Amino acid sequence: MITLAVETSCDETALCLYSEEGVIGDVLLSQARLHSQFGGVVPELSAREHTKNLLPLLKELTSTSGFGDLSRIDFVSFTLTPGLILSLVVGVAFAKAVAYSLKKSLVPVHHLEGHIYSCFIDRDAEYPFLSLVVSGGHTDLYLVEGFGRYTFLGGTLDDAVGESFDKVATMLGLGYPGGPKIDRLARQGRESVRLPRPLLRSDDLNFSFSGLKTAVRNALLKNPDLKKEDVAYSFQKAVMDVLLAKVKEAVRRTGVKRLSVVGGVSANSMLRELFTKELTEEGVKVIIPPLRLSTDNAVMIARAGMLRFKRGVVAPPDINPQPNQPLEEFGRLWS
Ligand code: KG4
Ligand code: ZN
Repeated sequence: MITLAVETSCDETALCLYSEEGVIGDVLLSQARLHSQFGGVVPELSAREHTKNLLPLLKELTSTSGFGDLSRIDFVSFTLTPGLILSLVVGVAFAKAVAYSLKKSLVPVHHLEGHIYSCFIDRDAEYPFLSLVVSGGHTDLYLVEGFGRYTFLGGTLDDAVGESFDKVATMLGLGYPGGPKIDRLARQGRESVRLPRPLLRSDDLNFSFSGLKTAVRNALLKNPDLKKEDVAYSFQKAVMDVLLAKVKEAVRRTGVKRLSVVGGVSANSMLRELFTKELTEEGVKVIIPPLRLSTDNAVMIARAGMLRFKRGVVAPPDINPQPNQPLEEFGRLWS
């Protein structure tokens, strides 16, 4: 069984050819440089870039992978939700056009479900497991009891963690996307700025990062001579303390001793180190995707699409993207 997967939910245009044996080929074009001049993703620009780049990328994919003729695929997987609606529309229309012209099935994937399965590209998941999804748009904690069986345990009440990295990076004049830049800078810093740990002791599994961002702004206003690397380190450490505390609490409440950390922020080097060390010490198996699959890609969409297709689930031809369908609901509808 072979799928072509399409991912266009934000500022990465990505395609993948994937069989049950693994990845045949994948291509990705990031628009980050284009959006950086505006300090963040400009939705209309993103959609136009996807429209411009999808066909040339498909040509590149079929030729560089040596796959050749697309008629050998069995179905097209695509990100249906959540994301920038104009960008999703472009990807869904493209997926439909390819599927229709080749008389193949369409298989919808939830973008966060893609992230969750980015850890399990070449192997099966062991259920149940906890999954912390930390990206530019989400900070969600799920219990995953099977494919499509997602229970939301907690999430951010305001900014997503990646968004807060991007905003703090802007305050430090580092540019967009800020996550990787803060990560690099923090390696030379130390924890010299006192910052809050929002909701650390709250009675639930929710997060809040907007107060932390404001605390960074206030610290910089009060003392403009603070070293950027120290601000980066202190901010990053505050984020990790909160994420780790909530995950440990989720382990305690559910008794589930397997955790995956996925999404763009799972590329963070401090996160990778601290989560692996601290949770392994507590007997929790920590699973983090390889770096290139932490951020948006089509390989993860292909994998989740394959798991769905094998369950016999396909989409009707009038399927339409949605900007923000909750993962739990999506899992129930498409399993
Ligand atoms: O998953 P992703 O590629 O796109 C979304 O679905 O949102 O995540 C992008 C986010 C951005 O906010 C980016 O700054 C953050 O992930 N990010 C990082 C790192 N690499 C990417 N944050 C912290 N450290 C990193 N190394
Ligand atoms: Zn993502």
